[in-house]
Amino acid sequence: MVRDDIESSTRHASRVTHDGGFWQTLPRPIIGLSPMDGVTDAAFRGIVAAQGPPDVTMTEFTSVVDLCRGPEHRLNSLLYHECERPVVAQLYGKDPETFYQAAMVVCALGFDGLDINMGCPSRTVASSGSGAGLIRTPELARAIVRATRQGILDWAAGRSLADAGIKPMRQEQIASRNIRRGGSEHGGRRAIPLSIKTRMGYDRDVVETWIGLLLEEAPAAITLHGRTLEQMYRGAADWTAIERAARLAQGTGTLVLGNGDLATPADVVHRVTAHRVDGVLVGRGALGTPWFFKDKQAMRAAVTGPAPAPALPVLSQEERFAVMLDHARLFEACFGVDRFPHIRKHLGWYCKGFPGAAAMRGRMVQAANGDDVARIVSEHLTGALSMASPADAVGQDLPLACGLSPSSR
Ligand SMILES: Cc1cc2nc3c(=O)[nH]c(=O)nc-3n(C[C@H](O)[C@H](O)[C@H](O)COP(=O)(O)O)c2cc1C
Repeated sequence: MVRDDIESSTRHASRVTHDGGFWQTLPRPIIGLSPMDGVTDAAFRGIVAAQGPPDVTMTEFTSVVDLCRGPEHRLNSLLYHECERPVVAQLYGKDPETFYQAAMVVCALGFDGLDINMGCPSRTVASSGSGAGLIRTPELARAIVRATRQGILDWAAGRSLADAGIKPMRQEQIASRNIRRGGSEHGGRRAIPLSIKTRMGYDRDVVETWIGLLLEEAPAAITLHGRTLEQMYRGAADWTAIERAARLAQGTGTLVLGNGDLATPADVVHRVTAHRVDGVLVGRGALGTPWFFKDKQAMRAAVTGPAPAPALPVLSQEERFAVMLDHARLFEACFGVDRFPHIRKHLGWYCKGFPGAAAMRGRMVQAANGDDVARIVSEHLTGALSMASPADAVGQDLPLACGLSPSSR
């Protein structure tokens, strides 16, 4: 599609009425899982869904260029299971035309929604103008939203991937992934809702102008992480800025979800109640605790009534290890044994807060497959691993200090 076509068709797209799609059917406050590259892959999300699903889940972000014409393995970040629905594909990039094509691919893959990343602060993404870099080029951000919406609408109207310039090989890869997942395009041709995840500014809080501009494009939802790009993950998330965004969105039909530093269900209840958002996305709080969302109804009850906020469910060691082992086996099934080293960080997050945890973590960083994980668990339970160091009992590796380097994002 040439640029003139995009521009004229986006004029049409911008006249389209607001369609919140599945977002409008979710219970309030919405309690969802935040996307985390290299962390919230299909295996982790599958385990989260099995433990007690969030209201909505998002994939790790994927480059629109990779999605449309990158090597096939780049599609792996968009693997998902039916049990994750509603599941939203998150994309990043800086070229409206490629977003147009990528939106059609996301629809063809059967996702329930499409989220545009306008918040990633990492040098490789933001300094090239994608992710949070788009906060500095608001008109480009606007063009991207319009082109993406047009891709969604054209898909719903019956346009083919071939007509959108997607090569036959990629079309076959998409079809075979749908068959392997056991679905086709979920629900047939439909216009899925578009959402945006962003930060409160580039180097300072510009919520009024930035969120105001995004609201003009009528996305179904905006998730706001209460930090600027320059802050990366430093300091505390500014929930008063998130509250201002929620106030701006009142009456527009766009939902505002707050994000940042929600370490416990009590944090969720407190922030939703105090800052009047439509919902939240929880990121690092769910690391090593994929059962974070299990009591989401109780969290909602605590927001709307006098009930106290629920505590994070406490699992016995055996239950915790069973979840970890299921996770390891699912990871192997999804991505193959060669990729197994990528799950080791998760294995470490499960091993905390009990006697012998440090010794167990030391072994988990060498696990090469699910059988290794099972063997290490069994050795721990029979006392064959070395005994606890004093640090074990107090619980190391708290999720919000999970060892993920801010500069890596
Ligand atoms: C390892 C890691 C990877 C992340 N990857 C993404 C991503 O792919 N897309 C995105 O929108 N945000 C990403 N984020 C940001 C989180 O979604 C979230 O906004 C941030 O961690 C603050 O929320 P939290 O305090 O609940 O973790 C990432 C964060 C971390 C720590």
